[in-house]
Parts: sequence; structure tokens; C-alpha cells
Amino acid sequence: MILPLFLIPAWLLLLISPAAALQRTFEIDYSNNCFRKDGQPFRYISGSIHYFRVPGFYWKDRLLKMKMAGLDAIQIYVPWNFHEPKPEKYQFTGDHDIEAFLKMAHDLELLVILRAGPYICSEWDMGGLPAWLLEKQSIVLRSSDADYLAAVQRWMGVLLPKMKPFLYQNGGPIITVQVENEYGSYFACDFNYIRFLENLFRQHLGEEVVLFTTDGLNIGFLKCVTLQGLYSTVDFDQVGTNVTAAFLSQRHSEPRGPLINSEFYPGWMDHWGQKHFVVPTQAVVKTLNEILVLGANVNFYMFIGGTTFGFWNGANMPYAPQPTSYDFNAPLSEAGDLTEKYFAIRDVIGKFKKIPEGPIPPSTPKYAYGQIALVKLNTVAELLGTLCKGGPIKSIYPLTFEQVKQYYGFVLYRTTLLINCTQPTPLFTILNGIRDRAYVTVDGVPQGILERDKNTLINITGKAGANLDLLVENMGRVNYGNYINDFKGLVTNVTLGNNTLSNWSIFPLDIDSAILHGLQNRSPASQLFSDAQLLAPAFYTGSFSIPSGIPDLPQDSYVKFPGWNKGQIWINGFNLGRYWPARGPQMTLFVPRDIFTTCAPNNITVLELESPPQSKGKYIVEFVDTPILNATLEYDMKNVQLIFRRRL
Ligand SMILES: *[C@@H]1O[C@H](CO)[C@@H](O)[C@H](O)[C@H]1NC(C)=O
Ligand SMILES: *[C@@H]1O[C@H](CO)[C@@H](O)[C@H](O)[C@H]1NC(C)=O
Ligand SMILES: *[C@@H]1O[C@H](CO)[C@@H](O)[C@H](O)[C@H]1NC(C)=O
Ligand SMILES: *[C@@H]1O[C@H](CO)[C@@H](O)[C@H](O)[C@H]1NC(C)=O
Ligand SMILES: *[C@@H]1O[C@H](CO)[C@@H](O)[C@H](O)[C@H]1NC(C)=O
Ligand SMILES: *[C@@H]1O[C@H](CO)[C@@H](O)[C@H](O)[C@H]1NC(C)=O
Ligand SMILES: *[C@@H]1O[C@H](CO)[C@@H](O)[C@H](O)[C@H]1NC(C)=O
Ligand SMILES: *[C@@H]1O[C@H](CO)[C@@H](O)[C@H](O)[C@H]1NC(C)=O
Repeated sequence: MILPLFLIPAWLLLLISPAAALQRTFEIDYSNNCFRKDGQPFRYISGSIHYFRVPGFYWKDRLLKMKMAGLDAIQIYVPWNFHEPKPEKYQFTGDHDIEAFLKMAHDLELLVILRAGPYICSEWDMGGLPAWLLEKQSIVLRSSDADYLAAVQRWMGVLLPKMKPFLYQNGGPIITVQVENEYGSYFACDFNYIRFLENLFRQHLGEEVVLFTTDGLNIGFLKCVTLQGLYSTVDFDQVGTNVTAAFLSQRHSEPRGPLINSEFYPGWMDHWGQKHFVVPTQAVVKTLNEILVLGANVNFYMFIGGTTFGFWNGANMPYAPQPTSYDFNAPLSEAGDLTEKYFAIRDVIGKFKKIPEGPIPPSTPKYAYGQIALVKLNTVAELLGTLCKGGPIKSIYPLTFEQVKQYYGFVLYRTTLLINCTQPTPLFTILNGIRDRAYVTVDGVPQGILERDKNTLINITGKAGANLDLLVENMGRVNYGNYINDFKGLVTNVTLGNNTLSNWSIFPLDIDSAILHGLQNRSPASQLFSDAQLLAPAFYTGSFSIPSGIPDLPQDSYVKFPGWNKGQIWINGFNLGRYWPARGPQMTLFVPRDIFTTCAPNNITVLELESPPQSKGKYIVEFVDTPILNATLEYDMKNVQLIFRRRL
């Protein structure tokens, strides 16, 4: 029987209306120093996962493992530059489909703590800010700069409406939303900016949602974001931390309300040229126990680190870029494997709440596909017509990557020698203007490498009229602190002998799409095998088929670069990341199985920037079944102190 609406008693209407039926609320209880979820006291144990560092193929596997560790929630960042790579060109499909990811978490009954940015740090290029913001050279990022705010407003007008249906109050998993990130560690300390963000978030998400901020432990860090309406939380690590004292620092800004450690570090990030970081499990579980005994909320940063594919890594200052692996020595490895740390954490959590029953998804099998022989293709200079379809940009003085709208990867700067450099002649930039590495050739003959902060001068020789090429690599924009306006390319003039070089042809290189379309030689490849320390940057290619007759292939793997020095690798057009075994500590790159195919040969393209293996024309890469992340070969002593940046 269907009653006409007017005949249904008012109280019944109330019961069946969605809001009343769900009764989903999530709020801060200041009297009892806790959260309240649906009216009941609640505290979360959460873990960070970056959907942008795990292939979509593996999202569910990783989320389920997090669930089975006893976590109530996951914490995610949203990288603006990943979703808006060019102004108003948005990417939200495939591995960018944050809504699909949130739905998956919800289906697994994991709550979500959303760190919506706009700045996220995250060891991600420019802390997640799009490099195109730097097209306005004088922009003051993370401040009330009008152009910056306009871009933020536009982006949040796209992102936040997508997030709104996922709020807990609206039937979704998102319990709290973070505004900005570690803002107190940035010089600007602009209250108007934070107030602007708060209003913007409220305008899109409503008045009920719990908004919060996160800062390092130092009281100084907390001073810039303590605004009414934004709940202050802290970050702190595991080794030798007095948990009570650490939370007193949060109490300084928030005398009442839930205690929250938004980033509790079970591991730590790596940098090229530094020792691989390992945090002992005992230290992690000891501190975890102390946090949970206090009734505090905690989020592991990271619970799974994953991989920074492609050109997406960031860097710290003094300039130290992060490697491709973001393993983080986390409880789930880069490949999502269960570790001893995972089980130890799960045991501690089990003392405080019920762990879900049922099997934990096992670590995925890895397969050693073995050695694959590559052949040499043309050099970058020989392939300019393919890599830079639009031709060069002419400019009297150098332009930055941002000025030529090539935000990542490589740009080749070419000029002509006007003098005979028969004697070795110094080539240098004033003010350390190489961002970040330049591979220098004269008419294709390697001359040396200029590197930011390290090698600011080389000698070159060559004849008047020869092409002087600087292939400049962006190794990742600074993601933390005051130096995030990290313009790339040649950011100052280049001097040769006594002359400022001019009349440049600037070739922005779109290597990703050239490889996707199948890189072909344009001229016969020079197959000279020399014992020279350096060869001109060049491509190498090969293919292999997944063996048949072995069940469950393809499987995950790791690729190793015996005898190679530094470069980039693509598999089937997917930009897997940077390799740099000459410096370390990372020696193998994780290869998730979803980029392999069994339908056709799998194509490997390597761009080697320094020199390939010197073993008589054999260019071998090797697929192995075990990662090596801890073999530092060339130490970078100058930068060692920076790893303690959050422990001040
Ligand atoms: C930890 O800090 C608290 C608060 O400052 C202090 O009372 C306590 O003695 C400290 N504990 C240790 C072991 O240092
Ligand atoms: C460079 O040297 C060649 C001879 O090796 C000479 O013919 C030429 O004029 C010189 N060019 C300049 C610009 O000095
Ligand atoms: C460049 O050449 C000069 C003169 O030959 C020499 O003194 C200097 O050490 C060289 N510099 C480098 C970096 O090779
Ligand atoms: C290069 O030098 C010229 C002339 O001194 C100057 O106008 C220009 O700004 C400089 N360019 C850069 C990128 O420093
Ligand atoms: C630069 O100029 C000085 C003084 O005019 C001269 O002595 C020196 O040889 C020049 N250097 C080069 C590399 O041309
Ligand atoms: C740069 O190019 C312009 C136009 O072709 C020319 O007039 C000028 O002499 C060149 N300058 C140098 C230093 O080569
Ligand atoms: C690899 O390249 C070959 C030759 O261009 C092509 O036939 C094959 O489909 C490619 N494989 C993949 C997975 O794209
Ligand atoms: C690297 O890690 C492996 C596996 O954990 C370990 O066996 C090895 O001793 C480590 N090597 C170094 C140099 O730390």
C-alpha cells in the first residue's frame, strides 16, 4: 500500500528522510578531549597512503592490508599539480581517479582524513603546487598574492565539490579535512591566506566538517595557523620522543580537544647520495604504545610509501632530490609487501581494539625476468626533430623551463661557439644557475657535467661555429620550506671564457610522448664503444616477452642497471622513474605488473645521460626479484643534516 504523502505522519517522514535515517555526525568534543562519531566518543588510528604513488591496479590490495592491520582510517594528500598539469586541463581518470579511490576505501569501511592542500609537501615536485604558477616570476606562493589566490580558488572550485559527497555527514568516509600543510615552517605566515582558505573550504564543504592544520613540533611552527575554526595538530617521530611533552606542544594551541599526531614516522625518506633510512621497529612500537595509552589519535606517515613514478619527485634544501622509491621504510614496503614492522604494529593496535578477522592479502610474488639486451638509438641531439616537434624557441638570453612551458624532464639549450676554444676554456654560470644538471657537448662530443651546488665550472674545447649544447635536467622542485619557487633550466646567463653567451635555441623536450609514439632513429646510430668517461646523452631500447607456460605471469619485478650511471627508464611508454646507481642508495626500480603485457613484446626505453655499461657493446638491464634500496655509492656529506629537519 502506498500512502499519499500527506497521509504519512510527520514523525514517520522524519525517520525515512535520509539525513535522519543515517544520523552521521563527526565532531570535536572539547569537554571530553576526543572526537565524537555519531555521538559516540571516537579516536582514530590511521595510516597515510598516496593514491598517486600506487598504481590504481593495486589500490584495493593496499587498502585491504591497511584495514587488516587494524587501522580505522587512511590519510591522503591531494597533489594539485598531478590533477591540473596545465591551467584548467584536469586529470581525474585512471590512476588520477581520486573519487574511485575514495569509494574503494569507503567500501572497505575505512574512514578518510583528507589533506586537500593546496600545498602538501609530500616529497612531491614543488610540494604539489603546479609549476605553471611560476610563469608569474614574482609570485609569492602560499600567500595572499592575488594571482596565487585566483588559481587556488579555481582549483578548489573543481576539487572540493567532488569531495563533498564523500564527507562523513553526507554518507561518505571523509571525517576531517586538512587546510594547507606545515604552514608554520614557511616564511610567509600570512593569516589572511589561511583565513581565505578556511572560508573557501567552508563555502564548498559546509559548516559541519572538521577542518584542521598540521605543523612540526616547534611552538614557532604552530604560531601561524592557530585560527579559530581550524583545529591544530602536530607531527612528531618515534626515536627518543617524550610523547607527553610532544602533545604539550599541541596543547599550547589547543588547550582542549582530541590529541592528534598527524604524522607519526615509522620510517623516513631517502635522498640521492645519502644513506638509506631505516627506523627500528622497536622504537616505532614503543612510541605507538605510548601514544595509544594516552588516548591520542595517530596517523602513520607513511603506512605505505609507494613509488614516485616519472618526474614527480621533489627535493629538500640544501638541494637534495629524492629518489624514485618512496619505500619510506614503512610497514608496507614500496611493493605493498607485509613486513615485520607491519605485524609488530598490528600487535600493538590489537591491544587497544579488535583487529578485523580474516586473511591478510599476501605479499605479491616477484619475478626475475632476467637480463634484457638493449641496442643504442640516436643521441638526444640527433633526435631533436622528434623530441621537440614545435622546433626551438629563440632567445638572446636563456629562458627557464617555466617560461617555455616545459615543466618537467629536460630542455636542450643550444648556441654557437663564436671563438675557437683550442685551449680548455672555462664554461660556467654565475650564481649557481644550473637547475639542476647540465650535460654539455660540443658538436656531439661530451665535455662534462655542470651540477647545482656541486660542479659549477667545466673546461670545454671546440671550434668556432660548433654547436654548444647544454641538455638541462630538472631533478625535482624543492618541496619544503622557503625555497619552493624553484625555477628550472638555466636561471642565469652562461659564461664562456670572458663572454656571456647569447643567441640561444631552446628545445623543450617532450620525451614522454615521443616514446609513447615509438622512438625511431632519424640517422644511423653511432655504435662507437669508447672507454670515455662520458658519452653524449642517448636512448637505448630493447624488448622482451613474458615467458609463456609459467602460471600467474606477469608478476611484479625490479629492474637493475648494472654498469649504467644515471638516467630515466620507460616501459611500454610508462615513465617508471629515474635511476642513478652511480650515486645510490636506490639500485633497483619497482616495476608493478600492470604495466607489462602478455599480448605483445614489452618495450623498454632507457635514456642514459652519462655513460652506458662499457662492456664491449652489451647494454644490459636486468629484472630481478629483490629490491636494493640501501647501497649508497657517492656520499653527499654536505646535505646529511637536512634529514633531521623536522626534529628541531
Ligand atoms: C616527559 O615530559 C613530561 C612533560 O614535560 C615530563 O613530566 C616527564 O618527566 C618527561 N618524561 C621523561 C622520561 O623525560
Ligand atoms: C678558428 O680557427 C681557424 C683555423 O683553425 C681559423 O680559420 C678561424 O678563422 C678561427 N676562427 C675564429 C673565430 O677565430
Ligand atoms: C680548467 O683549465 C684550467 C687551465 O687549463 C685549469 O687550471 C683548471 O683546473 C681547469 N678546471 C677544471 C674544472 O677542469
Ligand atoms: C643575461 O645578461 C643580460 C645582459 O647583461 C641581462 O639583460 C639578462 O637579464 C641576463 N639574463 C639572465 C637570465 O640572467
Ligand atoms: C679574459 O680576459 C683577460 C683579461 O682581458 C685575459 O687575460 C684572459 O686571457 C681572458 N680569458 C680568456 C679565457 O679568454
Ligand atoms: C645574435 O643574433 C643577432 C641576429 O641574428 C645578431 O645580430 C647578433 O650579432 C648575434 N649576437 C651574437 C653575440 O652572436
Ligand atoms: C613494442 O614495440 C613493437 C614494435 O614497435 C610493437 O609492435 C609492440 O606492440 C610494442 N609493445 C607494446 C606493449 O606496446
Ligand atoms: C641492505 O638491506 C639488506 C636487506 O635488508 C641487508 O641485508 C643489507 O645488509 C643492507 N646493506 C647495507 C649496506 O646496509
